[in-house]
Formats: sequence, structure tokens, C-alpha cells
Amino acid sequence: MEKTDLKKLLSEMTIAEKVGQLVQLTPDFFLAGGEITGPMQEWKMSKEQLFQIGSVLGTHTSEQVMKIQEMYLEKSRLKIPLVFMADVIHGYESIYPIPLALAATFSPEIVEEVARLSSKEATEAGVHVTFSPMGDHVMDARWGRVLESNGEDPTLSSALTRGYVRGYQGNDLSIEKNRMAACVKHFVGYGAAQGGRDYNTVDISHVNLYQNYLPAFQAAIDEGVELVMTSFNTMDGIPVTGNKQMIQKVLRGDLGFEGVVISDWAAVVELIAHRVAADKKEAAELAFSAGVDMDMMSDSYQTHLAEIVLEKEQQEILDEAVFRILTLKNTLGLFEDPYRGLKEQTPEQLKQTKKELKQSILSISEKTPVLLKNEDNVLPLKEGQKVALIGPKARSQDILGAWSWIGEQEKAISLAKGLKEKDLDLSILAMEDGQNVTENEIEQAIQLAKENEIVLLAVGETSEESGEAASLVNIRLSRNQEQLIHAVSKVNANVVVVLFNGRPLDLSNIVVDTRAILEVWFPGSEGGRSIANLLMGEVNPEGKLPMSFPRAVGQLPLSYMSLSTGRPMHDGNNDQKYISRYMDEANDPLFSFGHGLSYCQFECLDNGISQHSFTEDQTVEVQVLVKNKSQIAGGTTVQLYIEDVVAQVARPVKELKKWEKIYLNAKEERMITFELSSDDLKYIHHDLSMSAEKGLFNLSIGLSSQERSIHHELLYVV
Ligand code: BGC
Repeated sequence: MEKTDLKKLLSEMTIAEKVGQLVQLTPDFFLAGGEITGPMQEWKMSKEQLFQIGSVLGTHTSEQVMKIQEMYLEKSRLKIPLVFMADVIHGYESIYPIPLALAATFSPEIVEEVARLSSKEATEAGVHVTFSPMGDHVMDARWGRVLESNGEDPTLSSALTRGYVRGYQGNDLSIEKNRMAACVKHFVGYGAAQGGRDYNTVDISHVNLYQNYLPAFQAAIDEGVELVMTSFNTMDGIPVTGNKQMIQKVLRGDLGFEGVVISDWAAVVELIAHRVAADKKEAAELAFSAGVDMDMMSDSYQTHLAEIVLEKEQQEILDEAVFRILTLKNTLGLFEDPYRGLKEQTPEQLKQTKKELKQSILSISEKTPVLLKNEDNVLPLKEGQKVALIGPKARSQDILGAWSWIGEQEKAISLAKGLKEKDLDLSILAMEDGQNVTENEIEQAIQLAKENEIVLLAVGETSEESGEAASLVNIRLSRNQEQLIHAVSKVNANVVVVLFNGRPLDLSNIVVDTRAILEVWFPGSEGGRSIANLLMGEVNPEGKLPMSFPRAVGQLPLSYMSLSTGRPMHDGNNDQKYISRYMDEANDPLFSFGHGLSYCQFECLDNGISQHSFTEDQTVEVQVLVKNKSQIAGGTTVQLYIEDVVAQVARPVKELKKWEKIYLNAKEERMITFELSSDDLKYIHHDLSMSAEKGLFNLSIGLSSQERSIHHELLYVV
């Protein structure tokens, strides 16, 4: 449709029809043939109003979408197609590893592939818009939603967020019917929930907001993301969903977003519970005036917006909001093809898509695990070794993660299944996932551990234990799993923990008992197979932690990017009292951001820097010779960090600026070059402007944020 036709359509709409476009409901409202029954009656919505709404979220099948769209187009006056949205977070039916695991690849190209192929499956089921990616900056593993994040580094998170948007949206949504519009969420600050308790208060400074929380949103917007979702939390005391400053000034003004702003689930009506609105009418007024276009799953707009618009003479604002939604529908080509994507592929093509997904999931889930520890190269497993696989995650298919609502769990490959495909002398003792490991089971485990040379302990979280509304004050392994590890390690020196989880855990209590720890996250549909390939050494671990693992929960929130303090701790003063340190624990994490071992031994050697001082229009090249000193091939990520030695605002002690993934054959070496420009030195000043300051910068390069072997000094001269 041409823009003029859209304008014409808008001019033909009644106020009620316009308000309807701003309402999003679940499919239940339609599934009884449009009869409003049960709890839905509370909303006092008429059938006429139902056939005016703009969008549906969370349909399960192509049949549902077909049925609802058909019914809607038949009964609505203007026949403006519904736009169907859903949470396709790391796959639809075929499930990739969780986003935090995907972030361990440090690869925007990989997440782009995830998004592209997930779209192929989801669009076939009628999904037009996905509520992904999540650009929330996170530092607190108590918050269960770190599972959906790209981790603690804003630069990495921004690059990955861009990758997702590219993968979902492609080049032209109106032509590419197997792509979806993306909705970046949750704008903004949601990851800073106090105490890590979901939905809790957020109170962060504006320098912090602009420096760390906005970049991923800016990246998504620069990449052309179609929608932004507002978050549940407060900013400056006002919930973002009713916060004009955040939506109008920051999102629309500073970040330049022009697309649709949608609330999170029921966030408009929750303005009442926040006690910034007295009733639904005030809630609707606040959210609408702040700039929320679409009300997800509350009846505030539906019931009150028409009245508010007339009273406040907000017709123009209403028209703008509706026009944005009509534009989205037009961008998706829905006016020409309201059944977009549905049954687009022939059964043969669909089979091919599923096959493609399976292969892609397997290969990507081989790249996401992080080898945290591998003493004396206990891994990979050696030929002829007698191996025991023990633990609640051994046979569990609960390996898809909390956001795999359509995921086919019954088809997920368990670790036991993956290992049984290998030529191994394997005994299995599987406990019920999600249940306490009993004394009796521990006895059996001890016995089995005695009979085998090596023990693989498959432990971790259930998918319910991380994700939304899954906050914890204790992030240690629960349900006697620590006890199981202790008991087994007493009788077998070769304990390898295979860890399934959605968040960094506090592993301090078990780390000494283990020879190796392989962090596999929630690895997705092919999990067991990819982990088996890794354990056998058929593929080599290459994941790097996107989020630090604390030594104790009391260190949280935690980030490798901490700011300098007035009393910093360093090697020479850690026995003194009046410095910034814990009396009962070290400051640094147990496993830091960027850490991840390989079965290979890599070395980074300094090959010089092009210049030691530079100006705004120059680029500096830093060369590193990366050597694989082993007899096997493998991959790693070389990381470059900077430290701004003196600045107007306290700056992090180190900040990731560049990284490169590199694969080397046995004994191979390769030169890599990092390019730095003044853009890499820019930061947010107290007046929220962004610029680089002249002065000295320390560069360091290595294989993690802690293990940096190359150092350079660089002077920036303005
Ligand atoms: C979550 C969002 C999600 C939405 C729709 C909310 O509870 O916070 O992340 O997209 O539900 O399912």
C-alpha cells in the first residue's frame, strides 16, 4: 500500500477503530468464536471491540493464525489485518542454545544465523513479529532473565543485538516472507532490578544509563528494528511504560526511534500497582501521553483511551500512534497478504528447513559451551576409558531453557543419548531432574564412581529455575547436587562436571572437587549430541564467558568493567583494611568475563603497534601473532581491552573494545590485526555528551579479561 492509501485508510477510521489498533490480546479472546467468556468477561469488552483490535500475541499454530485472521477479516468493518506477535527467543520448535549461551560465541554472524533460521520456522506458523532480541544490560546473576541477555559487556551486547535484528528482519520484510519484524526489549534498565529480584525497582544514574544500558538499543535502532518494548521497571522513580522522558526524549529523541512502541505484558495497567496511577483511566492516560503506542494485554486503552483522547484533544497523537501500527502492517505486506508466511513452504521445503535447522543447531551448540576448568587435560575423554555418567541432567530432556514454549522437548537429545552414540564403555546413573538427589542415590553414585576411571556429573538447574520471575538469593547448585559432587569426588579423582544452567552460578563450593567443568547452559534441541562431541574431543570447546561467575552471591552485581575507586585493591595492598575489598572473599570473580579454555594451547605474541600516539583522523593498528601450540585444531577469541588512564568521569579498569574469533589447525600460527580509532575511546561525560579525551590509554590483549599478555601504551592527541 502507498503511504497516501494508508493516510486515506486512517481518515476513514472511527475513534473506536483507531483505539482498537492499539490493543493487543492473546488468542483466547478469539478461540471461542469471538464469544467473550470466563475471566475475559471482566474486561467488559464487546464483540464489536474485539473485531477492532490491532494485534494478537502468542498463537501456537498456523491453524490458529489462519482461523483468527479469517474470522477477523470477515467480521471487522475495515478489514485491517491483525499483526501476530510471539516470543521467538532462541528458536520456535527447533531450539538453539539460550541467548546467554549464544553470547559465549562472541559472534554476531552466529546469532544472525539463529535469527534467520528461527524466522523460517516461525513465519511458517504465522508469526509476523518476534519479541526479540533482549538488549538488557546485566550484571546480576540473581536475576533469572540474564538467561535471555547477551551478558555483561555493552559493546559485545550491541554487536550481538545488531546480528539478531539483521537475521530476523533481512533486507525487505514485505518481500521476504520468511523473515519477521524484530522488537528489541526491555526499554530500559530492566536488568538493574535491585537485589536481582524480577520486576523490582531500578535506580541508575544517567551516565550509567547512556554508557551501559542504551547502546544495545541504539544498535538495534541503527539496524532498523521495527519495534521497541517498554519495560516494567522504574527509571527516575517513574515506570518506563508511563515515563515521557524515557520514551519521548531518550528513545524517540536521543536514539532516533521512529517505529512502534509496545508495552510489556500488562505493564500499562500495572502503573496502578506502581501507584503512579489511581485507576485504569489514569494508567492509560499516562502510558499514552508518555508515548506507548500499543497496550499489550491490558484493557486500559480499550476501555478508556477514546474518552481520554476526546477530553485531552489528543487526536493527533492518536493518529500518529495508529499510523505507526498501520505502517508496520504495511511493511510486513499484510494488506496484500494477511496470511503472510503461512504454508509458504511445500512439505518438501519444510522438511529441508527442519533439516537445515537441526544441522545449524548442532553446529552452533558445539560452539556455545565454555570449558571453565580442565586440570591435567582430563578432558577430552580418552579411548578405552571406563566412564560413568551420573546426575539429574544425565537423561533429562529439560535442556531447552525457559523460553522454549513451543520447543519440542520430547525430541531434545539428552546427554545420555548423545554419549550412547559414541564408542564408549559407559555406565549411567540418572536421577530425576528437579528432584532432591537422595541419600540412596548418592550411595549408588559412590559405588559407580569407584568402578569407573572417570565420572561425568551432569548437574544444574531445571528450566524453571532461570528466566522470567526466577530470581534467586542463592545461586549455588541446589537439591543436594553439591553433596553428590562432594561424595563422588572423595572416591574418584577424575570428576568432570557438565553444568546445565541459565545463569552464572556460584561454584566456589564445588570447584575444588572437580578436575574439569564444562558449562553447557541450556544447550537446545541437539544438546546431548553436541556435548558428547565436545567431551569426546571430536570438536574443541571455544566458548568464552559473556558474564562473570562470582565467587559468592554477595559479590553481585558484578562486572569485569568495574570503575576505579578511590581506594582500589591491588596485589601489594590486599592485606590492608581501608581499601575497597571484602574481608571474607576476593574481589575478582571465580571465572571472569571472556574466560574459556580449549583443548588446544594458544599463545598470543606481540607483533607491535603502528604508532604510540595518534589523532582523531588516524587509525592505530595492533598486531598479534596467535599460535596454536598443540597437535589438534581449535578456535578461540582474542580480546583487546582498553583502560583510560585519566578521564573526567571515572572509567572502568578495563573495557572490551575489539575481539576476533580465530580457528587454527594443529601447530598453525596466524597474524591478526586490530584497528582502533578515536571512536573506540569515546565515553559518556557528565552532561551525557559522548567524546574522547586526549591522554594516555593502556591497551591489553589476551584470551580473557584476566589473562592478557600483551600491553601497549597509546597517547591520544586531540
Ligand atoms: C515478558 C516479555 C515478553 C512478554 C510477552 C512478558 O512477561 O517480560 O519479555 O516478550 O511477556 O510474552
